[in-house]
Amino acid sequence: MEEWEHPLSPNLGGPATGADLPPIDYLEWYVPRLQAGVEHDLTQSGFAHPWDWDGVLQGESLQNLTNPFTEPPLNPEALISAIEGVSPAQVVCGHGVSQCLAFALMAVLDPDKPRKVAVEMPSFAIASQFPRALGCEVIPFWRGPSDEGDCGPWRLDREGISQLLAEVGALITTPMQNPTGWMMDEDDQQWLADVCATHGVGLVSDEVYIDSARGTEHHRPMFRYGEHCVSVNSLTKCYGLGPLRLGWVIGSEERMVTAGRAMHTMQGMLATPSLRLAEMLLPRINEPLALMAERRETNLPLLLKVLDSHDIAWTPPPSGIFGCIHLPNDWSALDAIEQIADPLGLLVVPGGMFAPQLDGYVRIAWGGEPRAFAAAMEPFDAFLKGLK
Ligand SMILES: Cc1ncc(COP(=O)(O)O)c(C=O)c1O
Repeated sequence: MEEWEHPLSPNLGGPATGADLPPIDYLEWYVPRLQAGVEHDLTQSGFAHPWDWDGVLQGESLQNLTNPFTEPPLNPEALISAIEGVSPAQVVCGHGVSQCLAFALMAVLDPDKPRKVAVEMPSFAIASQFPRALGCEVIPFWRGPSDEGDCGPWRLDREGISQLLAEVGALITTPMQNPTGWMMDEDDQQWLADVCATHGVGLVSDEVYIDSARGTEHHRPMFRYGEHCVSVNSLTKCYGLGPLRLGWVIGSEERMVTAGRAMHTMQGMLATPSLRLAEMLLPRINEPLALMAERRETNLPLLLKVLDSHDIAWTPPPSGIFGCIHLPNDWSALDAIEQIADPLGLLVVPGGMFAPQLDGYVRIAWGGEPRAFAAAMEPFDAFLKGLK
């Protein structure tokens, strides 16, 4: 697995327990930086929606915040199913995508197949490391740039995937990709669903970013592509509610019986305060999506202007709050950040967090508060100058 070695990249490999369970390396690099404070932060992976909590709570009693049994009962599955247009029996909730991915994998992994999981790379580390903790071997497949200037949409390596499907029991993909922000091309998506169905391989789809494209042709959750497909989503990235840790799995009613058992096995019950707050917020979840679209109008032109002034031609993804760019002059993002961005008080995400092959890329977020974002464009401009 040498080609997958990088100080910040996901740790791929076989089943891992005890002291062999590898760290999530990027957290060890990133979290201390955030804790130390960043003057110009262009790293947000999610939209920090400024929720008006007084408005949300108006007239609502918090008396039952820790009481799970009320009349009418707490029923987050019913709320999610109404938003997604499925039956409540097709939804199982959990704590964030991070936990729901495990429920989803357990729901699709065929007990008679090898405990091997194909995982799309580049991707965020949990997607490739949690299967190892569940006793599975991880086998990477590629959906990356075709050349240095390619910032998305990236295409699936169909040949590579076709070769490994016979030996795996499940496959994990992130159709709306982190770090590019691009949705998987529709023909790739259909091809992937079809080829997995043909090989009897269950498909887990991390859709934490997909709601940024709600109402557009790019909003194509995988659960609509067949009984073997299970989608996973949460309130974290598009709704600014990561700390609630509310996520969900959507699939066929039969698969969701297994996902529900996985939830009971690994979690017992969900955090009632989070569910209560989510009940109050879910009727208003269009608000963050609207503000996200507004930020795109306000902030993205400023970013494009800076890139253009450095002759960096770049097409942003059609939705969301971030995209990635390839750094000029063969810079490694880690070196560029440590040598040039740090002294400017600027932080961007090094592409190596998602795969070693992205070492020359950085991810830039434009979803921030407009005045702070405009102020960050000056050091970002200086950063690009420093790369020359
Ligand atoms: C692709 C992707 N999925 C899921 C998550 C985490 O989601 P959650 O907070 O719902 O566990 C992240 C966080 O960075 C992510 O990048």
